Amino acid sequence: MGNLKSVALPLLLAVSIMHLPFSESLWFFNYHIHVTNDLPLLNSPPGKPNLFLGCKSKNKDIGERAMVKGQDYTWDTKINFAQTTLFFCNARWEGRKRRSFDAFVANRDDRRCSVYHMSCMWSVREDGIYFSPNNASWFNEYPW
Ligand SMILES: *[C@@H]1O[C@H](CO)[C@@H](O)[C@H](O)[C@H]1NC(C)=O
Repeated sequence: MGNLKSVALPLLLAVSIMHLPFSESLWFFNYHIHVTNDLPLLNSPPGKPNLFLGCKSKNKDIGERAMVKGQDYTWDTKINFAQTTLFFCNARWEGRKRRSFDAFVANRDDRRCSVYHMSCMWSVREDGIYFSPNNASWFNEYPW
């Protein structure tokens, strides 16, 4: 029992971390944000990008990417201490539609994006930009 102190402290730490409210343990997690081009090709050739997507936060600009059908634009983020992390995107479907949307908002997404591999899943489709909490059921959160 001489070693009680060296066991007790880490144990106490571990137990108190497990009991932190969810929102206070967020800074542990790395979230993955995925945006997939699921637009129909219509008249455009398959190898030619038909979606242009630019995303940024206050501190980080991921840049604009030209995406072909099926391509996945992905990046990671942690939630800042103030829980104000926000990634904003502009999507342009060549010659057809434009839409801006929030790809990650700390207090909107902390829970729903922790369901499936810490991932926020977005799918850009003919009628809008869909979100999925599980990469299986999809909801048109930002109609064009
Ligand atoms: C989501 O599901 C599709 C198949 O339905 C799969 O190809 C893709 O890799 C999955 N994405 C992730 C990030 O798991």
